[in-house]
Amino acid sequence: MSHWKKYSKAEIRERVFEALQQNVDFYKAGTLGVPGSHLDDKVFYQDAPFLKDAPFLTTMIHNPNHIGCHTMGESESFFQGTQAIEQELIALCAEDILRAEPGSCDGYVASGGTEANLQAVWIYRNYFMQEMGLSAGEITLLCSSDAHYSVYKAADVLGVNIHVVPVDADSRALNQTAIEKAVSTAVQKGCKAFVVVANMMTTMFGSVDDPTLYSAAIRASGTPFKMHVDGAYGGFVFPFTHPNNPLDFQNPDVCSVTLDAHKMVQAPYGTGIFLVRKDWMHFANTREASYVEGEDYTLVGSRSGANAVAVWMILMTYGRFGWEEKMSILLKRTDWLCARLDEKGLHYFRNPHANIVTMRAESVPAEVARRYGLVPDNHAQPNWYKVVVMEHVTIERLLPLVAELPDLVKSV
Ligand SMILES: Cc1ncc(COP(=O)(O)O)c(C=O)c1O
Repeated sequence: MSHWKKYSKAEIRERVFEALQQNVDFYKAGTLGVPGSHLDDKVFYQDAPFLKDAPFLTTMIHNPNHIGCHTMGESESFFQGTQAIEQELIALCAEDILRAEPGSCDGYVASGGTEANLQAVWIYRNYFMQEMGLSAGEITLLCSSDAHYSVYKAADVLGVNIHVVPVDADSRALNQTAIEKAVSTAVQKGCKAFVVVANMMTTMFGSVDDPTLYSAAIRASGTPFKMHVDGAYGGFVFPFTHPNNPLDFQNPDVCSVTLDAHKMVQAPYGTGIFLVRKDWMHFANTREASYVEGEDYTLVGSRSGANAVAVWMILMTYGRFGWEEKMSILLKRTDWLCARLDEKGLHYFRNPHANIVTMRAESVPAEVARRYGLVPDNHAQPNWYKVVVMEHVTIERLLPLVAELPDLVKSV
């Protein structure tokens, strides 16, 4: 069953207002025991007439706390209306976007991609410690040199080792030999289990890892592993632009995925999405969270229910086909930019399924990069500059940039 409908504004409004009615109503007294309330009414308008047509702002003002994980049974009953919207959103992302079997995943709306990546590593670290009796120092996080810096944070915070596999400087691809070498070096140093973080579009290049390279090399070494996919950048793009995504839940080696709605989905910040197969979330259970109904399985603690509502509203406004169309427009504009760079003979990297174009810094005058807000791989010493083709990055906005880039074909 698909969770991904296309709703009119009126249908969305009705659903969200109905959900708010099922939550505790702080305006009508309701609960006396939680350290939470509606937003301060001396500061934030509560009775502005436009609010009746503004389900997201109304949810913000009602201020539901989605503490805990709501796909696992019991949760705080105060906010069950908006929690149901979050459950629907998690099922939509896992099943309609990442092809999980119905009801086979848990998940929650995290503060961002960083938290979702940390949540994954935390779960697998605890699994290897609890089930195999390993110490954190015997667990190695394996990722490519293009992985996001949050993976290094995860290793640091959780006390596991990290081993970075270099990628090819031009194709940004991993290769079997480099992974085999990394695996055998880690094993020689005492690694007894791996946590792989595979990329579904990297931050700087939009490059995508081949997960079979990791699984083949680690299986050959006889070492257990768990695989997490970082789709913080690409999770709302790649599944729509690649006909057979090897990094979703159809791949039995993939156990969890990070998505980030505050990037391509243009949702408010605070809308990372963590998804994991059933029966794994409990490795991150903090039993001491005894005052929280249903306990807590997440890294974050209190979090705004309005964030889940915002992402649900956006996805339901587009519907599946509307979303596919939106992604195909972004790809068309990216194709257009690449065609202009080809005409000028400029050196760049682009994954054909991605909406990022990353140009060699030597062909982009630093002053032009600064004026157009191109992001470097390294502010101190740029090697690359990227253009991310978002909603506001139209061909009209790309034209002046293209005009200012050097023409290496004409200048030869
Ligand atoms: C691939 C990838 N992973 C993780 C993150 C971290 O996301 P956040 O900044 O939402 O914590 C980013 C952010 O750019 C990213 O591109």
